[in-house]
Amino acid sequence: MGAITDLTRMWLTRSRKPFLFTDEFDQPLSFAECPQMGLYIHIPFCRSICSFCPYCKVSYSEERCARYIDALIREIHMVGGQATSKKTVTSLYFGGGTPALVADRLQDIISAVDQHFTITEGIGIELHPDDVKESLLRMLKESGVTKISIGVQSFHKKYQTILGRRAVDISAMQHALETAAFETVSMDFIFALPGQTFEDLRTDVDTAFAIGANHIAIYPFIDFTFTSSPVPVMPKREKRRLLDAITDYCLRRGYIRTSIWTFSSEKGARYSSMTRDNFLGFGCSATTLLRGQFKINTFLVEEYCRRIDSSQLPTALTLRFSMRQRMVYYLFWTAYSTKVNAADFERFFGVSLKKMYGLELSIAKLLGLVTEREGVYSMTLKGAFYYHYYENFYTLSYIDKMWGIMRKEAFPKRIEL
Ligand SMILES: C[S@@+](CC[C@H](N)C(=O)[O-])C[C@H]1O[C@@H](n2cnc3c(N)ncnc32)[C@H](O)[C@@H]1O
Ligand code: SF4
Repeated sequence: MGAITDLTRMWLTRSRKPFLFTDEFDQPLSFAECPQMGLYIHIPFCRSICSFCPYCKVSYSEERCARYIDALIREIHMVGGQATSKKTVTSLYFGGGTPALVADRLQDIISAVDQHFTITEGIGIELHPDDVKESLLRMLKESGVTKISIGVQSFHKKYQTILGRRAVDISAMQHALETAAFETVSMDFIFALPGQTFEDLRTDVDTAFAIGANHIAIYPFIDFTFTSSPVPVMPKREKRRLLDAITDYCLRRGYIRTSIWTFSSEKGARYSSMTRDNFLGFGCSATTLLRGQFKINTFLVEEYCRRIDSSQLPTALTLRFSMRQRMVYYLFWTAYSTKVNAADFERFFGVSLKKMYGLELSIAKLLGLVTEREGVYSMTLKGAFYYHYYENFYTLSYIDKMWGIMRKEAFPKRIEL
């Protein structure tokens, strides 16, 4: 598996040089000139821990959480204060974990962000189905939240049991959603669960749109090596049939494919924290992507607070990109939206996409993976499946390895991918 990603990396970066992450941590972050930048804030607390979940999270405790939020606000000021003037950013997303557990501190966090950044495209937050209550939704609206994403996973008892999740009260969720209007109401589902059929997924999608969602994300189940999940993986052929069938269904219903995994029923509905050219991440495990560097914060809550207490950034690892590495990173995440615009690439790198990757794009066209129209490359259904298939390799070779180490070691010396 690693061999596939290694060979692809060497081919596309035209170099044997791996992605090298080292423990440099106190360099200033040069974000002032970065256009189209987003912000991400990680809240790593959950009421109970799901066995399948790879994200950075710990069980909620009031005292630990209070200490963490104080440290988080300090990190926002430490980084935000590096710019000489207020920086305009696209969006702010809260992810987790379960960010609703800190709903009473949300206003404090947003006020800290507002001192350094002007947000132009709204604020998003991930919610657990148990959080979707009228009172909480009202509080979120009052804090300025414009987009919510609910981790439903499945409306079917069978798959809730497989995932170890409680039943979702569909009518209570619908009622709560009717009380507060958000620009985006997204719902997450996991597909490729054992025995899952097209009918199961179709009814999930229909229910989501019927009870108030205007956007859905259908993620393929990934079996991370470090989770204790007992859920078996669906064979490739069955997975492809299911993915093609649900994609075809959503497109026939007139939903807009906003990325590989997401569909919306309204034009303006979007929920995407990672598909930005640049972003700053705050909190445990949060990543930051700038023009020439990528960095990731420590995963361990106590170590995170300790670093901030000593007035240092909680960065665990930093990668300094070569230009080709940055291009590959850019293309990988832009392709997630199913489209790559050659003019945007050229604006970002100052060199034409055709010059850098003309051969690869011609091969992709010949293989029927992409089509081109006026300099915009769009993924075909086949291309989307292979992107998904490759992304699974990438996740298991890169993310699984890095997160596997970082959950145990606060500040590793170096990691090569
Ligand atoms: C940070 S998580 C969850 C948000 C919220 N805490 C919840 O549980 O509802 C974001 C999404 O990642 C997806 N996810 C989590 N573990 C996954 C896995 N092993 N494979 C695929 N998707 C996964 C789920 O759909 C989940 O809603
Ligand atoms: S899936 Fe959500 S609730 Fe479950 S452990 Fe992960 S972040 Fe927490």
